[in-house]
Amino acid sequence: MKPPRQFFSPLAQGAPEPLRELPVRLERMIHFVPPHVAKLRARVGELARQVDVILGNLEDAVPLEAKTAARAGFIEMAKTIDFGATGLWTRINALNSPWALDDIIEIVGEVGDRLDVIMLPKVDGPWDIHYLDQLLAQLEARHRIKRPILIHAILETAQGVNNVEAIATASPRMHGMSLGPADLAASRAMKTTRVGGGHPDYKVLADAQGEAPRASAQQDPWHYTIARMVDACAAAGIKPFYGPFGDFSDPVGCEAQFRNAFLMGCVGAWTLHPSQIDIAKRVFSPDPAEVAFAKRIIAAMPDGAGAVMIDGKMQDDATWKQAKVLLDLAARVAAKDPDMAARYGL
Ligand code: GLV
Ligand code: MG
Repeated sequence: MKPPRQFFSPLAQGAPEPLRELPVRLERMIHFVPPHVAKLRARVGELARQVDVILGNLEDAVPLEAKTAARAGFIEMAKTIDFGATGLWTRINALNSPWALDDIIEIVGEVGDRLDVIMLPKVDGPWDIHYLDQLLAQLEARHRIKRPILIHAILETAQGVNNVEAIATASPRMHGMSLGPADLAASRAMKTTRVGGGHPDYKVLADAQGEAPRASAQQDPWHYTIARMVDACAAAGIKPFYGPFGDFSDPVGCEAQFRNAFLMGCVGAWTLHPSQIDIAKRVFSPDPAEVAFAKRIIAAMPDGAGAVMIDGKMQDDATWKQAKVLLDLAARVAAKDPDMAARYGL
């Protein structure tokens, strides 16, 4: 760990000062687009008005022969489309792949001043973040980039999960982390063939009662990892996200997975298919009824101290803080979405 005084020093002469606080942005969904597909690239301008973040994916799901076309397509997208307040991210290839170095050098060189965040896959430990951090500082200095490009790690290896806290605090460039359930399942030798979500065989069975059929309930195989990720991110002041849900034919399952993550502390999820955008919007914008209750808590305890009863439920300093979390998020949603502002009465 660096001495505290050095932690916020730029890593290259001429690189911008690292941020002390993350920009306050609504990032309910990180919408993945394949930049090598011209037809889909053409729709990105319109998509950018519907989502909080557009991410050009260069890694898994891009065919090997399209890797350089995806990189070039992303650069074209970044140069030609007006993203307005929508975040612009890219997922580069893994650091040990043949493409990562050119992904970083070309993208930062061409559109580094437009790029908000680089998503780094298969992060095993803080050493991966340190490498990218240093390289980005050198490139920012070379290209006179004024605003530091942030790093978002995918938590998708067993080693990464072991090192989650060190990854979260590896650099002031850390924006957040996403759970990558597909690669993580493979890395752990889980016996599944899915991209996120539950599994019918991962369940708890009620006790036997004679011959009566035994009730069972599916459990969330991602609970443990999401909990570790949320704690690591919250403690470091960065943002946790659920990642992909691959079964596009199961919107109900997708919503349940997203909602578990939201309730546990995640701020958003990936949307791989346009049908998932509304799901993420619904889940990661707080429920108007919860917001109304949170307002009652704040109104009943304006200075956030003491204890009051509302509808038979005890409220104190801690529920006041929970209410603030919901209201602060509702205010960010309301600032972007007039319909939600009306539903929140904000
Ligand atoms: C995402 O990259 C995953 O592996 O789930
Ligand atoms: Mg992955």
